[in-house]
Parts: sequence; C-alpha cells; structure tokens
Amino acid sequence: MTEHLTVVTHPLVQHKLTIMRKKDTSTASFRRLLREISQLLAYEITRDLPLTSTRIETPLQEMDAPTIEGKKLVLISILRAGNGLMDGILELIPAARVGFVGLYRDPETLQPVQYYYKVPSELDDRMVIAVDPMLATGNSSVAAIDLLKKSGAKNLRFLCLLASPEGVKRMREAHPDVPIVTAAVDERLDDHGYIVPGLGDAGDRMFGTK
Ligand code: URA
Repeated sequence: MTEHLTVVTHPLVQHKLTIMRKKDTSTASFRRLLREISQLLAYEITRDLPLTSTRIETPLQEMDAPTIEGKKLVLISILRAGNGLMDGILELIPAARVGFVGLYRDPETLQPVQYYYKVPSELDDRMVIAVDPMLATGNSSVAAIDLLKKSGAKNLRFLCLLASPEGVKRMREAHPDVPIVTAAVDERLDDHGYIVPGLGDAGDRMFGTK
C-alpha cells in the first residue's frame, strides 16, 4: 500500500457504519454489522497481497491459476475490542495466524498499560495486520505497533473502523511506514479520549457491557 491512510468510502461500508453509530442499535446488530464491515475493510487492506501461480485442473482442463504467495499472514487483535473485528476477518482469511496484545487505557492518563502479549513466531517475513475498531488518541495503537516491531514485524498494517484526526496524526508521526485502513475519520476527540461523533465505547457496544 502506498497511502498512509485509506478511508473506505464504499456505500455498503458507510451504510453499515451509520447503523452502528446509532445509539439504539442493539448489541446483536452491532456485532453482526462489525463482522460484515470487518470483511469489507479486510478486502481493502489485503488488496495488494502478492500472488503466485499454481497449476490446477478444472473439470475441463489444466490451467495456471493465482494463489496468494508467501507465508500465512498474521492478524493481531488489540484486546478487547479488536476481537470483534478479528472474528469476521478470520472467516475471510481462515488460515491466518493470530496474536493478541492486551492494552487498557488508564482512565486518568489515557496512556496504554500492557497486560497480555502473545504473538506467532516469524513475524519478520509475514504481513501483520493489527486490528482495533477505534483509533482514538493513538496511544495504544502506537504502543501495540512498537511491541510488534520489537518482535520483528516489518510489514505492518493497521485496520480500524473509526479514526480521529489526532489518532491518525499520532500514528503517522510514530509509524509512517504502517498504512491505516478505516471506514471514517471523525471530527475530533473529546476530553475523555472518545471519538466524536463516534459510536461510543466499541467494546461495550459489541459485548453488551457498561
Ligand atoms: N475507544 C472506544 O471504544 N471509543 C472511542 O470513542 C474511543 C476509544
């Protein structure tokens, strides 16, 4: 990917996102829509995966047919909300390797605190896609990418549902080599680090907590 930021303006993505934003949308609908959008965003973020050719036999004849080249890609869920995106993407890319980065935001400082880290080996020669629905302050995204780079990841991408201008800027400054794919960049962050107008707390909305 050459662009640092790609906003997927496809009407299906935009329509589904609007329903997710509505405060009265149920947990069940939110979860289903997140799954659907995650697949459309994954389609975009994997658009330039390299292909190779394999000899196959159709019922009619032999042909050289395209298949994805190289090692299985890696999906990294930034817990806990990342899991809502991960489920859908795994349906699309079932052979992907999966890792988890557990970070929570200290409500006072808004800084990320790590509580879990488990990722596949050999990150260095795989495409690694980190997923988190909300790129808000960018603090946890930057911290997660820092950790993944320390583990050897070189070909990294970041997939989110919604981003703030502040979060995009922070990621661009810290990790200009990591392209971001999102469905929308909203107006701003509020004083609590929430994206406005946003959709509220993505984790609470997908898991029905509060
Ligand atoms: N995390 C969320 O779930 N929502 C926001 O608006 C910001 C961070």
